[in-house]
Amino acid sequence: MGILIRSFLLMLLSLPVGAGIAAADAPVKSHGDEIIAILGTGDMGDSFGPRLAGLGYKIVYGSRNPASKKVIDLVARTGNGASANTQKNAAQQGDIVFLALPWPAMETVVQSIGDLRGKILIDMSWPPATYAADGYEQITIETSSAEMIQGWNPDAMVVKAFLTLGSNVIDDPSTASGPVSVPIASNHRIAKEVTARLAAEMGLDPVDAGPLRFARNIESLTELMLVPYAQGRDEAWDFYFRRSNFFVCNAYEGDGSENLGQPVVDSENLADFPRTQPPLADCE
Ligand SMILES: NC(=O)c1ccc[n+]([C@@H]2O[C@H](COP(=O)([O-])OP(=O)(O)OC[C@H]3O[C@@H](n4cnc5c(N)ncnc54)[C@H](OP(=O)(O)O)[C@@H]3O)[C@@H](O)[C@H]2O)c1
Repeated sequence: MGILIRSFLLMLLSLPVGAGIAAADAPVKSHGDEIIAILGTGDMGDSFGPRLAGLGYKIVYGSRNPASKKVIDLVARTGNGASANTQKNAAQQGDIVFLALPWPAMETVVQSIGDLRGKILIDMSWPPATYAADGYEQITIETSSAEMIQGWNPDAMVVKAFLTLGSNVIDDPSTASGPVSVPIASNHRIAKEVTARLAAEMGLDPVDAGPLRFARNIESLTELMLVPYAQGRDEAWDFYFRRSNFFVCNAYEGDGSENLGQPVVDSENLADFPRTQPPLADCE
């Protein structure tokens, strides 16, 4: 990353995030003091842990086998006082809980790890899917995995994020050969802002993707992401949403676009995200 871009990013990250948070969504702890529980020590879990520990966060892994050599080695590689425990104990210790779990295990796990009231649950799971008759992947649920998790845990703050990137990009964002966006959806503003801060600190570009039901749109990207695999191609893509104010600046009278900026009902949920892209020119 160029030195100018890095300075710009650092400046942006130092801006306060989370002003005006509703009391029900009170932040768990102040910036950087949160304990991050990572449930699942597979491909995603063993990427997030070391990256976040390297940023100064305390990590506790939740594993079915916390005493296994795999997990002991991961804890050692993670450093910064990391530890491992059962999935339930880790979740109870964590202020932010990364659900780095396969979808088939999700319901059983998230319903057996105790009271999750007030915790931020970050769901990165690919939704359940099958192959359509033409060979392409097809999602089999009508809502989204994230909404199902929120339904099982109404007192937690569920966030959909990090589904659209591979663990290689968590390990090292430069492997994407360019910026990578992380669309983040949640019904809880503070949870979106905390997740956005973590994404930006990891060198990714957080995008406010609205309330949790937009997890459906994020999850539907997996169908798109798998098209090249279904076609047998040897290249796919990483997602990058480039900012634009074209539609904001160009409302055309009579075609309905003048209503694009009408206030949304959940305006309290509009998150204040760190900006990782340069500002756009004002509308003329
Ligand atoms: N891999 C990627 O690049 C990627 C990208 C985007 C999204 N995702 C999503 O991220 C999630 C994690 O993916 P992953 O690639 O890290 O999966 P993974 O390598 O299979 O690891 C998942 C971990 O979950 C735990 N686990 C497995 N089966 C379980 C069960 N029945 N009950 C409880 N825990 C179980 C295991 O950890 P322990 O052995 O320690 O219990 C396992 O290592 C998935 O939902 C996936 O769709 C993955």
